[in-house]
Amino acid sequence: MTSHPYILGIESSCDDTSAAVISGTKILSNVIAGQKIHAEYGGVVPELASRAHQQNIIPVVDTALKRAGIRKEQISAIAYTNGPGLLGSLLVGSSFAKGLALCLNIPLIVVDHLQAHVLANFLDTNEKKNKPEFPFLCLTASGGHTQLMMVHDYFNMEILGKTIDDAAGEAFDKAAKILGLPYPGGPEIDKLARQGNPKRFIFSMAKMKELNFSFSGLKTSFLYFVRDRLKENPNFIEENLNDLAASIQYHIIKSLAEKMEKALKTYKCTNFALSGGVAANSELREKMLELAEKYNVQATIPPIPLTTDNAAMIACCGYFKYLQKEYTTLEVAPYSSPKIFPN
Ligand code: KG4
Ligand code: ZN
Repeated sequence: MTSHPYILGIESSCDDTSAAVISGTKILSNVIAGQKIHAEYGGVVPELASRAHQQNIIPVVDTALKRAGIRKEQISAIAYTNGPGLLGSLLVGSSFAKGLALCLNIPLIVVDHLQAHVLANFLDTNEKKNKPEFPFLCLTASGGHTQLMMVHDYFNMEILGKTIDDAAGEAFDKAAKILGLPYPGGPEIDKLARQGNPKRFIFSMAKMKELNFSFSGLKTSFLYFVRDRLKENPNFIEENLNDLAASIQYHIIKSLAEKMEKALKTYKCTNFALSGGVAANSELREKMLELAEKYNVQATIPPIPLTTDNAAMIACCGYFKYLQKEYTTLEVAPYSSPKIFPN
């Protein structure tokens, strides 16, 4: 049996400090420290995020090594998120990764956060045995990005369509804020929606051509609707919370599913995959399985902890780069806006 290298992955692009150790595509540990501090502000406060990363990074990496059962001297390479994301947050992870790689005298690998979300589909998991086969369609929907891609190879991803304004996760978070729910709102809406009627309220939404998305009009329509109803009845939100959550979720997921269906009709692919935090949404997961059945294609849907930000996906991307000896030097600097998939 050949032994695989141990890759340490580090993720710090937003409000989760995460470290993972993988061996090949097998996850040995995947430690995620969330930052509760942002909930009271209704969104991520960049300065507070960097400070929390600074406090979390050493214990998180330490725990990831312990859980994996390895010493730091056994790590073959360190892969870290270099962007896109919050610059102050990225700097914490990148400085730490550089320092540790220098001290251990091992290769350093830069990872693009969005590519890593897609490549999370190649990690081994007990829940899902299948992995995507190239070329495959991939819908990435997170708090910062929403795009449909044709993935030709690990590092050859072609954008077929993307949002022209808000990301799908942002739409969930903003709707949740209007309803007075804590940040991040996506999981809260998902939970409440299970008890609600998705067809109860109708909001207007921009119809986008081709495979692009738009969510800002929906947010405005939702905001005005709730505001007007509150004028008539101050208890409108609490009396209708489940239906409001179910209805807004229905609109967001319908838009994502319609574009995936259109892509499946346009591009004759044998399989598709999902990635990004919104891929944790129960309705989206269900709709994607329905599409797979309807078009007789294979759907790869990562287990929920691998859809939201985590370092195992960073390590996985790092592993594929390690195989190609695609190492980086200490001079490389983090970037905040998408570089590989520019807007
Ligand atoms: O990928 P991710 O962890 O971070 C970014 O790269 O942005 O995605 C976070 C986003 C947030 O907007 C969050 O509300 C959303 O994913 N999200 C969900 C669910 N879980 C997380 N949205 C809908 N339903 C969920 N269950
Ligand atoms: Zn992400």
